[in-house]
Amino acid sequence: MPYPYVLLSAAVSLDGYLDDTGPERLLLSSPADFDRVDEVRASVDAILIGAGTIRADNPRLLVNAPERRAARVAAGRPEYPLKVTVSGSGDLDPGAKFWHTGGDKVLYTTDKGAERARGLGLAADVVPLGPDLDWAALLTDLHDVRGVGRLMVEGGGTVHTQLLQQGLADELQLVLAPLFVGDPEAPRLFGPGDYQRGRLRLVESRRIEDVVLMRYEPTAPGAGPSVTAADRRWMSTACDLAALCPPSRTAFSVGAVVVAADGTELARGYSREGDDPVVHAEEAALAKIDPADPRLPGATVYSSLEPCARRASRPLPCARLILRAGVRRVVTAWREPDTFVADADGSGLLAAGGTDVVVLPEYEARAKEPNRHLLG
Ligand SMILES: NC(=O)c1ccc[n+]([C@@H]2O[C@H](COP(=O)([O-])OP(=O)(O)OC[C@H]3O[C@@H](n4cnc5c(N)ncnc54)[C@H](OP(=O)(O)O)[C@@H]3O)[C@@H](O)[C@H]2O)c1
Repeated sequence: MPYPYVLLSAAVSLDGYLDDTGPERLLLSSPADFDRVDEVRASVDAILIGAGTIRADNPRLLVNAPERRAARVAAGRPEYPLKVTVSGSGDLDPGAKFWHTGGDKVLYTTDKGAERARGLGLAADVVPLGPDLDWAALLTDLHDVRGVGRLMVEGGGTVHTQLLQQGLADELQLVLAPLFVGDPEAPRLFGPGDYQRGRLRLVESRRIEDVVLMRYEPTAPGAGPSVTAADRRWMSTACDLAALCPPSRTAFSVGAVVVAADGTELARGYSREGDDPVVHAEEAALAKIDPADPRLPGATVYSSLEPCARRASRPLPCARLILRAGVRRVVTAWREPDTFVADADGSGLLAAGGTDVVVLPEYEARAKEPNRHLLG
C-alpha cells in the first residue's frame, strides 16, 4: 500500500462542536469510550494530531492501559505508537507534553516551519515537506520511511476536514455526545469546502454508555488519475467478487463494480456469473445498468483485471463496452498477461477513447489469487 490506512477519530456535541471555548478541554466521551479510544490507539502504528490541538489541549496521546502496551511489546511492536503532528508555522511549545511522553515523535511541516521548529529544539524528527504541507507526501513518508500501516488521526477539525476533503480518509469513527455547546466561536468538526457529494457508508453504530459511536466509510471515487481511499475499497470489493467466479481453465476470474461519482454503487458483476458461461465481469455489471443512466459518464468501473481488448466469445471486448457506455474512468489492479491473448492492451484502447485508466498494483496479488492455476 502506498499510504497507511487512515482512521479519523473524533467526539462531537449534538450541535457539532469539538470543544467549547473555555480554558479546559471539554470532555465529550464517556469513560468507557475513552477506554475504547485507548484500545484503538494500541492497535495502530501512529497517532496524528494538528498543532492546534497541541496548543489547545496539551495532550500526552498515550496508550494508557499497561496490558495493552505490554501486548504491543510482546508482538514485537514499539510500546507506544509513533506520535505525529503537523504545523505550517513550526511555532510549537517545546515544553508541551506531546514531546516528552510516549515513544518517537515526528513533526511534518513546511520549509519555513522546519527552520523555526529546529530553532526551538523540539524533541522530534522535523520533516519539511516543501513550501506547503502536502498530505499525500506526508502519508507516503509515514508509510515508506516509517513503516506505518495504520494511522489514527485524533483531530482537530482543520486536520480532519482536509483528510476527508482530499479523499485520504479510509474511515471516520465519530462519537456523538449528548450535550450542547452552543457557542459559535467554538471549533467545529468539519469546516466548509468540497466534500464527496453522496452518502458515506455507515458500517457500524454502537451505544457506549450515554454516547453513540458511528463508523463511516467514504464511498466516492477519485477524479481522473487521482486516487481516493474509496477507490481502494471498491477495488477490494472487485477482488472479493473475483473470488466468486465459477472456476475455468480457459478464462480469467475477474470481479467488477460500477460506481457513480457520488459513491453510489450502480452494479457489480463477475466472470461467468449466472447462467452465462462466457460473460466477463465488466460486461455482466454494465448489462445491469440502463444505458441511458445519466450517471454513467461520471462513473468509475473497477475491474480486478484490465478490461479485455480482444475476445473470441462476443463481438465487443469489455474495453469497447465501457467506451460505448460512456464511462471515462477505469481502475484496475493488474494488466492482462499473454495467457490467452498476446499483447492485449485494454488500457491503451480505453486511453485512446478518452478514458483515464488507473492501476492499483497493491491489489495485484489479490486479483491474481483466483487465477493462480492459469499463471504457471
Ligand atoms: N472532540 C475531539 O475529538 C477533539 C479531538 C481533537 C481536537 N479537538 C479540539 O479541536 C480544537 C483544535 O482544532 P483546530 O482545527 O484548531 O486545530 P488542529 O486541526 O489540531 O491543528 C491545526 C493546525 O495544524 C497545522 N496544519 C493543519 N493542516 C495544515 C496544512 N495543510 N498546512 C500547514 N499546516 C497545517 C496548522 O498549524 P500551525 O498553526 O502551526 O501552522 C494548523 O493551525 C481544539 O479545541 C481541540 O480541543 C477535539
